[in-house]
Amino acid sequence: MSKLAAVILAAGQGTRMKSSLPKVLHPICGKPLINWTLDSARALGADPIVLVIGHGSDAVRAAIGEEACYAFQEQRLGTGHAVLQAREQTVGRSDEVLVLYGDMPCLRPETLAQLVEIQRTRRSAMTLLSVNSADSMGFGRVVRAADGRAQAIVEEAAATPEIMALTELNCGVYCFDADFLWRTVGNITPTLPKNEYYLTDMVELAVAQGLPVEVLMIDDVAEVQGVNTRVHLANSAVTLRERINMRHQLNGVTLEDPKTTYIDDAVVIGEDTVIRANTHLEGATRIGRGCIIGPNCMISDTTIADGCAIIASMLESAQVDEDVHMGPFGHLRPGAHLGPRVKMGNFGEVKNATIGADSYMSHFSYVGDASVGERANLGAGTVTCNFNGKTKNRTEIGADAFIGSGSLLIAPVSVGEGSVVGAGSIVTHDVPDHTLAYGSPARIKRSLTDDPDDDQS
Ligand code: UD1
Ligand code: CA
Repeated sequence: MSKLAAVILAAGQGTRMKSSLPKVLHPICGKPLINWTLDSARALGADPIVLVIGHGSDAVRAAIGEEACYAFQEQRLGTGHAVLQAREQTVGRSDEVLVLYGDMPCLRPETLAQLVEIQRTRRSAMTLLSVNSADSMGFGRVVRAADGRAQAIVEEAAATPEIMALTELNCGVYCFDADFLWRTVGNITPTLPKNEYYLTDMVELAVAQGLPVEVLMIDDVAEVQGVNTRVHLANSAVTLRERINMRHQLNGVTLEDPKTTYIDDAVVIGEDTVIRANTHLEGATRIGRGCIIGPNCMISDTTIADGCAIIASMLESAQVDEDVHMGPFGHLRPGAHLGPRVKMGNFGEVKNATIGADSYMSHFSYVGDASVGERANLGAGTVTCNFNGKTKNRTEIGADAFIGSGSLLIAPVSVGEGSVVGAGSIVTHDVPDHTLAYGSPARIKRSLTDDPDDDQS
């Protein structure tokens, strides 16, 4: 079994992004630009994966960590020079070396697999990826000999009108025979005007050694669109989002309106779930089967079990058990956990709190730093007063408790199992199990139609 290594070029400055964040760390569909390429390399079993970094290298290392090894390119002297920086970490460790760019997130792993496969079966010096496109995008041209073999890659700066007219473009992605690469890449000589070491010279160097160069030609330009500006970033996001959405559709998920459905790459969704319009599913979100999500939901890093209906709500780092109904206008903040069949209605907020199975909080409630037992009913406007200005305190509400509307539970406090708190109560002391507690009812003071002069006692 032959071994594959990958070298990912990412030392470019990315000045056109106009950003303090290194270009390759800008997120697309929930993961940094560079991770799209890293994940593809890993999916192909590449090892080692060497990331060539320069500009913003500390931030890139900090973000990517152990997922790659790093080679540092101090001066940006061209793509050939960049690959040379990875030599020490890669030489002798693989049969083929895949060279990729860190800013080409739409390249399909399937295309790369094909490229590697061609290199493995033909055993040429290198296999390059080309695309046929009338719009040159400033890419180098692939020049072929009469027999159809690739002879050279010519950059636009050096191209004659005949070469400019060629529509086969070099994508900058190659699979090299490792021996050929490492014995040859150091022989690249700098090219004017910028005195850069062009990796593209490898084609001519192979031809000079009498070695064949293979080409995999594709026709989907979107795959090889590099990200240099925020316009490219958004265009790439559209391409990737369409692919993600289609993956879920083919897996049995209904998307009411794919154009307004934003699903991060890592999200998992079960069969027969319907995602309604204008919904964002982010991070490590997992949604079960047979749910209806949306319209208008923003859900991040949340697990939702089967059979839930979530309408127009925001959920962050929360857990929702099966058959929950939530919304419209609910907010689950980190640490919220709704048990099975909970019904959480309009304008509710739950934070760092568990609501037991079959409980109701139908209108205008805040439950924070609390645990609520099963079958409890929180009346409209129930508030756990969890913060006294200095510390956060917990509220415990037992199973089958009934909290009357508009009650304030001043934490730390508990309401026992099966107890009833009257509407409008301010609960400052623990209520034992199976007990009725009620507070400050309004007193009837006087009739507003009486003569006010009578009231001067
Ligand atoms: C290169 C190819 C060109 C091809 C195009 C496709 C060369 C000489 N030309 O063009 O034929 O059509 O890619 O996009 O290779 N990088 C470094 N260090 C460097 C220079 C570049 O890490 O010193 C990285 C960049 O961050 C980027 C990638 O290499 O990710 C490509 O660099 P870029 O300047 O965009 O390539 P071009 O020279 O324009
Ligand atoms: Ca470029």
